[in-house]
Amino acid sequence: MAQILGGVMTSHVPAIGRAIHKGLQDDPYWQPFFAGFQPVHQWLAQARPDVVVVFYNDHGLNFFLDKMPTFSIGAAPEYRNADEGWGIPQVPAFPGEQDLSWHLIESLVEDEFDLTTCQEMLVDHAFTLPMALLWPDQAWPVKVVPICINTVQFPLPTAARCWKLGQAVGRAVRAWDSDAKVMVLGTGGLSHQLDGERAGFINKDFDLQFMDSLVSDHPDWATQFSVHELVEKAGTQGIELLMWLATRGALGDSVEEVHRNYHIPISNTAAGLMLLAPT
Ligand code: DHB
Ligand code: FE
Repeated sequence: MAQILGGVMTSHVPAIGRAIHKGLQDDPYWQPFFAGFQPVHQWLAQARPDVVVVFYNDHGLNFFLDKMPTFSIGAAPEYRNADEGWGIPQVPAFPGEQDLSWHLIESLVEDEFDLTTCQEMLVDHAFTLPMALLWPDQAWPVKVVPICINTVQFPLPTAARCWKLGQAVGRAVRAWDSDAKVMVLGTGGLSHQLDGERAGFINKDFDLQFMDSLVSDHPDWATQFSVHELVEKAGTQGIELLMWLATRGALGDSVEEVHRNYHIPISNTAAGLMLLAPT
C-alpha cells in the first residue's frame, strides 16, 4: 500500500514567479523567504517522494465564475500552466499520476465527497510556484494529482468540511494499491487581503496560533470558526488557509513538526511554510 511521507504547506504569491525568473533569491527582500525552503529541500532529497497530491485554489485560470466547483480533482495525463497576465514565464508541464487520480475519485465519491472530475486542467500560480519552490530546477521528479478547493466565489466550503476532505484523501492514499511514496502539498494563505477597505491586512497572532494548532493536541482548532469568521481573522484571501487544513487532515492523527518559516510580508501576504511528518 502507498505511504504518506509528509506534508508541506506554503503560501503562494505571483511575485515569487517573477523573483525566480529574475534570480532574486538572495536579494534582501526575498532571502528570508527563499532561505526558508532549504530544510524542505534537504528533507525531499532524503524522502524522495514519487507522487505529490496538491491542494490549491484556482484563481480564474481553469475555473471562472460561470462554473465554480466547490471541490475538483485532476485526472489528466499532464498539467500545463498558462499566462495569467503576470508576464512571468511558464514552467514545464507536470506529469499526472492518473492511477492515483482515479483511485481517489472512486474512493472519495464512495466516501460522499462528490468532486468534479477534470480530465483536462490548467494549473495556475497556486500550483506551479510552490512546486518550483520545492524543486527549483523544475525537472519535476514526481507525478502529481491536483485537488482544487474553491476559495474564490462564495459560498465556500467550511473549514470542517475541508478537514474531512483531507482525512478522506489520506485514507484513500493509504489504501492505494501501490508502493509509491506520496507527499501532500497545500498552498495558500496565510493572512492576506488584496481588496477593499482592509487591503494589506495581515494578522500575525492568528497565523502563528493557526500554525501551532496544526501540530498541537487539537489540530482541528480552526474548524470551530465559520468561513466568515476566518475571513475576518485572516482576510478575504487568507481563507486560502483551507488548503492547509485539508493537507493536515490527510496526514493522520498525529504529526511532528519538521520545519517552519514565517515571514511578513511577501507582496501583500504573510508567507508561511510548514513541513509536517506523520508519527
Ligand atoms: C497575492 C497573494 C495571493 O494569494 C494571490 O493568489 C495573488 C496575489 C499577493 O499577495 O500579491
Ligand atoms: Fe492566492
